[in-house]
Amino acid sequence: MSRVAETSAPIHPVLAERWSPRSFDPTKSLTMADLTPAFEAARWAPSANNAQEWRFLVGFRGDATFAAMTERLSGWNASWAPTAGAIVIGMYEEDPENRASEYAPYDLGQAMAHFSVQAHADGLYVHQAAGFDRDAVAEYFNVPATWRVFVAAAVGHLGAPELLNETLLARETAPRVRRPLDETVFTGPFASA
Ligand SMILES: Cc1cc2nc3c(=O)[nH]c(=O)nc-3n(C[C@H](O)[C@H](O)[C@H](O)COP(=O)(O)O)c2cc1C
Repeated sequence: MSRVAETSAPIHPVLAERWSPRSFDPTKSLTMADLTPAFEAARWAPSANNAQEWRFLVGFRGDATFAAMTERLSGWNASWAPTAGAIVIGMYEEDPENRASEYAPYDLGQAMAHFSVQAHADGLYVHQAAGFDRDAVAEYFNVPATWRVFVAAAVGHLGAPELLNETLLARETAPRVRRPLDETVFTGPFASA
């Protein structure tokens, strides 16, 4: 079954073809050079007041950072994410002295969106995950108290779905769905078409 988004109007192929797999090719590894274009794309994301209050921690499969990250994944994430070539953890600053920091989580999300779209354009797949112990990651990596560890993203080359167990295989091959546009975009009072 195609993983390409069914859209009511044509969208850029990179956006239509991006999706979040759980099966990554365990024979392929990644280096910082492979991810540099995606980090550059994130770097050039817009942000409130151009504050850029995000940071990314990256571990590559086989290194100590990756191992520390995978030990802190929760639930099913602990079974599929360790086959990715890299894990990126996104964090933002919550600085009460800085008004722009109210928008820092939004800005981090936008930077992650840039990251995932660029990675996909480069032939990589990104699967973001909130299911990990954020406090434990913050503590292990000495993240300052004003920073919120927020999201993890597994990045890698696509693997065969058959590498997954039955439960994850069912999720990997389930149809991709979204709420229709006419229930999302409105032109008057809330939710009116
Ligand atoms: C902030 C965030 C947190 C997520 N957390 C998890 C997670 O913990 N585990 C997981 O398997 N997927 C997680 N996802 C992936 C979403 O479930 C996925 O993006 C969504 O189902 C849409 O699928 P698609 O990306 O393939 O279009 C997360 C995505 C985002 C953006």
